[in-house]
Amino acid sequence: MKDYSEQILSGEGENDYTRYMRTDALLSLQRLPEESVHRDELLFQVVHQSTELWLKLACSEVAEATARIESGELDTATRLLGRAALGAQLVTQQLEMMRHLSPWDFQTIRTVLGHGSGADSPGWRSVRASNRLVGAAFLKLVADRGVDLAELYRSGEDTAEFRLAEAMIEWDERISIWRVQHFKMTTRIIGHEVVGTQGTPVDVLAKLISHKHFPELWAVRTELTETGPMGERPVGDRS
Ligand code: HEM
Repeated sequence: MKDYSEQILSGEGENDYTRYMRTDALLSLQRLPEESVHRDELLFQVVHQSTELWLKLACSEVAEATARIESGELDTATRLLGRAALGAQLVTQQLEMMRHLSPWDFQTIRTVLGHGSGADSPGWRSVRASNRLVGAAFLKLVADRGVDLAELYRSGEDTAEFRLAEAMIEWDERISIWRVQHFKMTTRIIGHEVVGTQGTPVDVLAKLISHKHFPELWAVRTELTETGPMGERPVGDRS
């Protein structure tokens, strides 16, 4: 009979779960109550730290998706981008926890943040770097295959290229939706016409909402509207 109470993995921790998940290290990464100026520092750190973890996963999926696009495995790339998009959704949802952070309590927490800002988040930096690579891989793919993006959409065919294009746009859109929520949350907590801990005016965050990682895929929508049945330009007139 197997003895399931026996711990069989090596490493730090009192049982196999804590050894594999490295929970001792993970749970030591938040400030202790005696180091904190406000008990909501825990809430604040947990939201940020878990965002970093989900984005680590999302970027790993985007990097793998890039390699799969390069090797022509488009359906696999599409599934991986779906995982990344879900990661972005999860980090957006967890901004809800900030509703429980009062604007006045945050003023106390702010005093211990130095010039630290989410603008230096490794997770969000990695999103930007990963997107440059997957965007380039996608554009090379459509160029190599002679795919015209507007035609890809007009054909109405459920091709691998179409599914990939839709997965790319969803990932990009989910990032913008995070930015919308982050901007609203920021103004709810610290207001307008003030600057953040890194000196950036809050209203700059509003402008970032319209940033597009894959502009060609957004432009094609405009082209479809302009050249569609209600459009102003007939198909073929791209002047
Ligand atoms: C109380 C909660 C928060 C407030 C008041 C806040 C405020 C701000 C402000 C004012 C900026 C502009 C830069 C500056 O700091 O001067 C900023 C940028 C940024 N913050 Fe936050 N933030 C909060 C939570 C978060 C969380 C949970 C994340 C997740 C990692 C995050 C990620 C970012 C990113 C990535 C930027 C760069 C702008 C962008 O890419 O849209 N922030 N934040």
